[in-house]
Amino acid sequence: MAQTYISDIARHTGQEVVIKGWLYNKRSSGKLGFLEIRDGSGTIQAIVSKKDVSPETWEASERVTQESSVIVNGVPREHPKRPGVFELDIRQMEIVQLTGEYPISPKDHGVDFLMDHRHLWLRSRRQHAILKVRHEIIRAVRDFFDNQGFVLCDTPIFTPAACEGTSTLFEVGYFDEKAYLTQSGQLYNEATAAAFGKAYCFGPTFRAEKSKTRRHLTEFWMVEPEVAYARLDDIMVLAENFLSYIVARVLETRREELEQLERDISKLEGIVPPFPRLQYDVAAKMLQNAHDAGSVEHRFEWGGDLGSPDETYLSSQYDKPVMVHRYPAAVKAFYMEPDPQRPDLALCVDVLAPEGYGEIIGGGERMSSHELLLQRIHEHHLPPEAFDWYLDLRKYGSVPHAGFGMGIERCVAWICGLEHVRETIPFPRMLYRLKP
Ligand code: 4AD
Ligand code: MG
Repeated sequence: MAQTYISDIARHTGQEVVIKGWLYNKRSSGKLGFLEIRDGSGTIQAIVSKKDVSPETWEASERVTQESSVIVNGVPREHPKRPGVFELDIRQMEIVQLTGEYPISPKDHGVDFLMDHRHLWLRSRRQHAILKVRHEIIRAVRDFFDNQGFVLCDTPIFTPAACEGTSTLFEVGYFDEKAYLTQSGQLYNEATAAAFGKAYCFGPTFRAEKSKTRRHLTEFWMVEPEVAYARLDDIMVLAENFLSYIVARVLETRREELEQLERDISKLEGIVPPFPRLQYDVAAKMLQNAHDAGSVEHRFEWGGDLGSPDETYLSSQYDKPVMVHRYPAAVKAFYMEPDPQRPDLALCVDVLAPEGYGEIIGGGERMSSHELLLQRIHEHHLPPEAFDWYLDLRKYGSVPHAGFGMGIERCVAWICGLEHVRETIPFPRMLYRLKP
């Protein structure tokens, strides 16, 4: 008999089906066993009654242990009191492999233990819900750009130069040369945007971050759109539409998972354009006032980059993501276009997610002048020879252009309402974690 997935079970009520999966949990009372079976698509409570099955099946149901693999024949029916919930009356059960003591029992474990057993932890309901939301976010990301005429142009992972500062580069041997794992596809996006008008890349990016915060991974997935002729204001509009689209999609298709994660859904329902815009100068004032009022610990000085606690404070002041723009050029990357009104400021934007989630998007307008860009490369002590091709883009039909990057994991953490990004990716890479 063909296998039926638990997610399709509603279409099979009253008919015998075969479920192939694993035992999630079980309890029994005398001559009845209640086996919770999962098959990847969902879980179902399966009931075995001693009087209705063969001695072999009854014995198997008594022996079966948590996470043993099992094949179950049974007849699904709707729960008498809970519409939409199905149960399975077992007719026959076979153990594919009897599992010895499973390391993750239903009792509470510490996070380090669970992280060490990430390869098994992924089987749990909560991890399931998170990763299904992640999948939906990624689908929404692709649909958003694909539906608006962006061309997907994947960018390389081995790169000859830094994009986001030399302090977080992973160096790798590349035959007789040195190469670096990409920090961002942006520089290449600028080439593809000049070729296709609107382009995006979406792939893994790497930062040798020595920080152990709840927002940092050393390997994360970033989606980066880039638009020729776009200005800062244009990509702020793009960013607010983009985030609103993603949230709406998750609310539409993954409400059950959000509920399971106990996410306050009403907070997500308010995520619609427009988002507040906050100039860095004003943000700096807000932070100073908050310090004077005793709500933040350290005093923010104009000119610095926003640290995690600053972002947490600012983003907790709004119900929607807030777009902080025009940071001092000195704290931002070399490629940022200066504000013509105030050249000490960069035409950039960081989007801070609400509820204290902090930066989820960073982007802005790119420098279009060859001369100034070359000067910045020198000022940042970057090797000009690694950037010759990038400088070419300013020689052959240079135009204003802008784009941004969003880290998928931070977006997932925000939408799911998670404390830490480590649960937002199947196998996180962090300062002290390379395994499993
Ligand atoms: O602000 P960042 O560094 O911007 C760039 O890399 C630009 N070149 C993007 C562009 O304009 N095309 O990174 C963008 C986003 C951040 O807002 C954050 O969501 C995520 O990438 N990010 C990280 N996520 C997890 N762990 C880290 N260590 C991250 N660093 C950045
Ligand atoms: Mg940033």
